Parts: sequence; structure tokens; C-alpha cells
Amino acid sequence: MVTQLLDQWSSELHLLLEMRVGTHLDFFCRRISGITTRQFFTTMLLTLQNSKKISFMTKVSSSGKKLRKLETGMTNTITEQSRPESRSGLESGMVAPALAIAGIDIALDEIRDIEQRSYRVIERLRETVFEPGKQKRLKIGFSISEAARMVGRTPTAIRDAEKSGRLPEPRKDSHGRRFGYTLTDINIMRREFETLPWRGGNDEPLVLAISNFKGGVGKSTLVAHIAQYLALRGYRVCAIDCDPQGSLTSLFGFNPDYELEAQNTLFPFLMRERDTLSYALRPTYWDQLSLIPANLSLYSIEYQLAARLPTNPLMLERLRLGIDTIKDGFDVVIIDPPPALGMLSLSVVRAATALVVPVRPATVDFGSTAHFFTLLVEALETLAARGLQPRYKFLKVLINAMDETKSAHTEITRMMRQVYQTAMFNTVMKDSAEIDNAGARLMSVYELEEATTSRETYRRCKAYLNAVNREIELLIRKTWPGHHEALRREGVI
Ligand SMILES: Nc1ncnc2c1ncn2[C@@H]1O[C@H](COP(=O)(O)OP(=O)(O)O)[C@@H](O)[C@H]1O
Ligand SMILES: [Mg+2]
Repeated sequence: MVTQLLDQWSSELHLLLEMRVGTHLDFFCRRISGITTRQFFTTMLLTLQNSKKISFMTKVSSSGKKLRKLETGMTNTITEQSRPESRSGLESGMVAPALAIAGIDIALDEIRDIEQRSYRVIERLRETVFEPGKQKRLKIGFSISEAARMVGRTPTAIRDAEKSGRLPEPRKDSHGRRFGYTLTDINIMRREFETLPWRGGNDEPLVLAISNFKGGVGKSTLVAHIAQYLALRGYRVCAIDCDPQGSLTSLFGFNPDYELEAQNTLFPFLMRERDTLSYALRPTYWDQLSLIPANLSLYSIEYQLAARLPTNPLMLERLRLGIDTIKDGFDVVIIDPPPALGMLSLSVVRAATALVVPVRPATVDFGSTAHFFTLLVEALETLAARGLQPRYKFLKVLINAMDETKSAHTEITRMMRQVYQTAMFNTVMKDSAEIDNAGARLMSVYELEEATTSRETYRRCKAYLNAVNREIELLIRKTWPGHHEALRREGVI
């Protein structure tokens, strides 16, 4: 776990070094990376302030592996004396030990200063994205023909119901023009026409984890888009952010470490301070979609769970028990796990009843996917040894950010299809600038009111997303016997 944490840090340390030699704060402008960067500094400060944790960094760095990686980027700035092998840097109280290991002399105050600046950048980014002081809300509206399609009735049936008072009068502006219907309006119609697609009373809510122990494969992005797609379809969805970096929480408009406390996250439940998870459920501006947010406090859960595990193996069962206390109110619980194998990831693997494994179609990522499955098998064995083996209703690999113009991408996709066969999604999620651009605006593509690039790119991106999400929706519905008759009528089973 430590090695993985360091892996994650080392690339960001490069960014820090670039800043030292004069690069500006430009890179902060990419929002998600900005948040990660800020959290890097905060985490590093926490680490620096905790001497116990510093000792393991020393151990990892003395293997030389991480060190060489770091050194390549800073050969011009390192002097022989400040190399970590010379203990002088470590022994000096003035020098931040973790950075001294990497061979640079930056005082703790300097890092503290950069950390504070990172928070300011994040706040400024939020101010440019949201009107100051305003909560994020869903601005998209639906025409009557879109509403009819979503509800599963004709526009005439909707108009008739509005006239007869079965449905509320549509809202109009001062010129008498109809406002678009909101998702809440659509769900009122679905309720009236009895077309809400909820699971049957005897069907189990599905607990879907979008899992890969690697960062940057698109987990948080996919969780947000799957959750919102399902909400648009009328399901009751709970999204759980288990990643201390809180990317998913940010996508839902919260500033994880600024406006949220540890008690708003999974923390109190996992620490056995609470008996149910309902305290952490937050309604979002998406009708029928709730979020359990995350923030940096979840990092310490890793240590605390690990410390308690030897005497209490049931610590790995806490998340599943927590989800049990809230799942009755939902059709799907969708989890965004942290990008490393640790206590939280193990808890997610235990709590899930289905897994989607996103991978990028690059050779290096393919290697990491193989690695992921090795670790997953080990995790499952660890759980089984404690009598906690999960059972999955499906486990599928999803290729994300595939670029058809890159022959390497098409080649790897073809090869993965041959190897994984039915364990792979039929659809792939294409690489799209719209996803990146939406993310930079703290949004999903489903929240955009208009294209950020061209209308065609936007339309295509939504089509890819919908195709992937339709496949996921079908996989979910197949797990519900209560849906089987409808699926037979639709000709899908
Ligand atoms: N299909 C895609 N097309 C383009 N960019 C993507 C796609 N999926 C993810 N991204 C981008 O990749 C980056 C990492 O995604 P993220 O969801 O944060 O990964 P993870 O949660 O696995 O660390 C983000 O900047 C996101 O916008
Ligand atoms: Mg993430």
C-alpha cells in the first residue's frame, strides 16, 4: 500500500519540482488534477507531521527504485551532498524529511505555503464554474417529446394528463413559453403513468463497484456518468465516494476538504461510531440520486482499519454492513473506490455484488490490469480466509478512453476481446474531449447544456456513453428476477 501511495505521489512530486524551477500554477487549471495536487500537499504535510509514517518512506526510498525515477527529472537541481544517501538532510530539523529523501531541500513552511495556495486555486476554480455562494443545480431541461420518450408514453398522453389535472400544469415563462421539464417533473410523470423502472420488491439492490487499483483509468468519471444515466432512466441511485481524493464528490459540486467534515463521510460508520449509514446520505441536484461524499479524512481509515484488523477481521465487513442499512431505498448503489489496494479497497471488493473494471487500451495499462486481477484474487483469498468471500453477479472489463485513430488502441482492444471474450463489454467507451472538458467545469457530459467542442463531438460522446450505460443497465436488470418478464417482452433475454 505504501509503495502504491508513493507511486501516486512520485508523479506529482515531479510537478512540484517543475514549480521549483519556475513553472507556474497553470497545471492547476485542470480541475481534477488541481484537487489531487492540493490533496497531495495536504497529505504530505500530514505525513511530515507524523514521524512514524516517515520511517516507511525512508525504507521504500532506500530501495533506490523510486529514487531513480525522481532523480531523472531533477538532475540539474540536485547536488551530490543533498542526495538521500547522505543522512544529513534527514537529520536536519529544518528540512522536510520526505523531500530530503528525494534529494531537495524545501522547508516545511514552503510546502505549507504551496498547500494553502492550492486551496485558493481550487476555490477560485469553483468561483469561475459556479456563481458564488450558489449550490450546484441541474440546468438541463427536456422537451415534451424527450419527456414522452423518457416516460414511455406519447406527448398527447402527457398533455391530456396535464389538462385533466392528473399531472401538474407545465411551468411557463412570462411570454407563455413552456420551460423544459426537469428530471423531477419526468419522475412525477413516471409515477403517474407507473413507468418507473424500479427493481421488484423481492429483487436485491445491486452494489456495483467500478474497480481498478490504478488511478486515472476513469473510475470516478464512469461512476458519475453511470449514476446520472441511471438517475435519468428513473432508478433510485446511491453513489458512494470511497476515494480520499474525493474526485466524485467534487463532480457533484462539493469541495471535499473545504465544506465537508470527516463526519459527513464513511468515516464515523467505519470507525463504529454510528450504527447506520443514513447520516451520510446527501440528496443531490439529480432527482433520486444520493451521494455519500469523501474527503481526505478517509486516508487515516486505512491505518486505523489495518491496525484493528488483526484482532477484528470483521472490520472488512463494515462497509457491506453499512450499505445494508441504506440499500433498501435504492435500486443501485455504485461505488467509486480508491486507486490503491488497501483496507478501503478490500472493503469495497467485499461489499460489491458486481464489478466493472475500467482499463485504458494501452500496453502499460494492460499490464496493470493483469496485476489488478492478481491482486483481486489475493484480496478474495484474504477475504475467503476470514469467511467473508463475496459473490458477484457479474464482473466485466470495460475499455475506456479508446481512440480509434491510434492503431495501438485498436490492436490492444482486439487482443483483449480475444482474451477476455464474454468477460468484456460489447461496447467500448471512446476517448472524448467532451468528457475532459466537462470534468474541467466540474460537470459530467450529461450536465452540459451545450457542446464544449463541436455539436458533433458532443452528440457522439453522449451516444458512446449511452451505449455503455445501456449495457450496464441491462446487466443490472438481468440480476432482478422481477424484471425478467419485461426483458423477455423486450426481446433481450
Ligand atoms: N472516455 C474518456 N475520454 C476522455 N477523457 C477521459 C475519459 N475517461 C476519463 N477521462 C479523463 O481521465 C482523467 C482521469 O479520470 P478519473 O475518472 O479521475 O480516473 P480515476 O478515478 O480512475 O483515477 C480525467 O481527467 C477524466 O476527465
Ligand atoms: Mg477517481
